[in-house]
Amino acid sequence: MQRIFLVGFMGSGKTAMGKLLARRHGLSFIDLDSYIESKFRKTIAQIFTEAGETGFRKIEKNCLHEVAEFEDVVIATGGGAPCFYDNMDFMNQCGETIYIRLTPGHLAERLSSSRAGVRPLLKDKTGDELEQYITETLQKREPYYLRANRIIEGTDEQIERQITN
Ligand code: S3P
Repeated sequence: MQRIFLVGFMGSGKTAMGKLLARRHGLSFIDLDSYIESKFRKTIAQIFTEAGETGFRKIEKNCLHEVAEFEDVVIATGGGAPCFYDNMDFMNQCGETIYIRLTPGHLAERLSSSRAGVRPLLKDKTGDELEQYITETLQKREPYYLRANRIIEGTDEQIERQITN
């Protein structure tokens, strides 16, 4: 039985790489944010507005426990998921964890070209403000991400090659 969790900052490509990894190993794929959105029939942004970040984190934890019941699956988690409650320990206990590690500059480049407004924590942040937010937040989050069993880093092409090998 295989259960693989992908962790990493927003914009690191967890969903795209998770789909590739799942296809490569004949596993199913679940994106935790999409699971939450279909379960509650609301977007992540709506949940943040209605329940605040604290409410969202509770929902995220409960849903993480639900999807961790699945077998032979790759699960892409939201960027904050490993950093709240005991979620990182929990994932390490029930599966293999992979951290997709990008530099703040690489993340800023990818996030500034992604759809605006989709990620509540990045709403209204552009240019220098976005890069500063990424640098500061990544500094707080990396100790959690670095507890993953495996770290994959480099250019987009290098990451894709490591995922599919
Ligand atoms: C978040 C990341 C998002 C989503 C929510 C909060 C975060 O997921 O869970 O907006 O705290 O980093 P992605 O990492 O898939 O963007």
